Amino acid sequence: MKVSPSILTCDFSRLADEIKFVEQTGADMLHLDVMDGVFVPNLSFGPPVIKRLRPLTSLVFDVHLMMEYPDRLIDAFADAGADIINIHLECGSPIERTLDYIDSLGKTPALTLKPATPAEAVFPYLEKIGLILVMTVEPGFGGQAFMQEMMPKVAAIRKEIDRRSLNVMLQVDGGINGETAAVAAKAGADVAVVGSALFNSPDPYALVKKIQDIT
Ligand code: DX5
Ligand code: ZN
Repeated sequence: MKVSPSILTCDFSRLADEIKFVEQTGADMLHLDVMDGVFVPNLSFGPPVIKRLRPLTSLVFDVHLMMEYPDRLIDAFADAGADIINIHLECGSPIERTLDYIDSLGKTPALTLKPATPAEAVFPYLEKIGLILVMTVEPGFGGQAFMQEMMPKVAAIRKEIDRRSLNVMLQVDGGINGETAAVAAKAGADVAVVGSALFNSPDPYALVKKIQDIT
């Protein structure tokens, strides 16, 4: 599995050091959770912060937009250095047009499904995206418990990706640790977002390696 650490639960007073730390763990990407206080009942950070982080690392910036109208800021996130620009299927922006726009900027379009959204909802867009994120918690906060009941959805999406022979990453986000990552991998996920489990781990280096070793 690939590991994409979420910095949502890091020490924001030492953000630059936390990014260096993530890089040192050998993680594959950096998951950046953007919240607008409307789509989810929380606020985090936006393009100016991401722009300042960009020169600090060569990690792929995996930007998860928990925003009602992400289309209004696609240019800003692309300019800030996002690599994967991930919008929610449940947002208020025109989905197809926004994915096409992300692609036209040379960035990887991605889609996220909240827990209540069925697998089939993403099928019409599979050819347009490079990554699908199945939320394994309700978006908005780090530190919640993994929803095992999302595994049939992961399995259904994996089946459809393979049936069409597509090269689309399948990511899980929320409550991921060494054990739940293995459960998600078994269902077909190949990228794990890890937030609080990493920042609270007594041995984060071993945790990243353990998840990367899951096949
Ligand atoms: C939740 C965010 C997640 C969160 C994961 O809305 O999308 O990326 O930071 O945190 P943990 O791993 O603590 O569940
Ligand atoms: Zn996220």
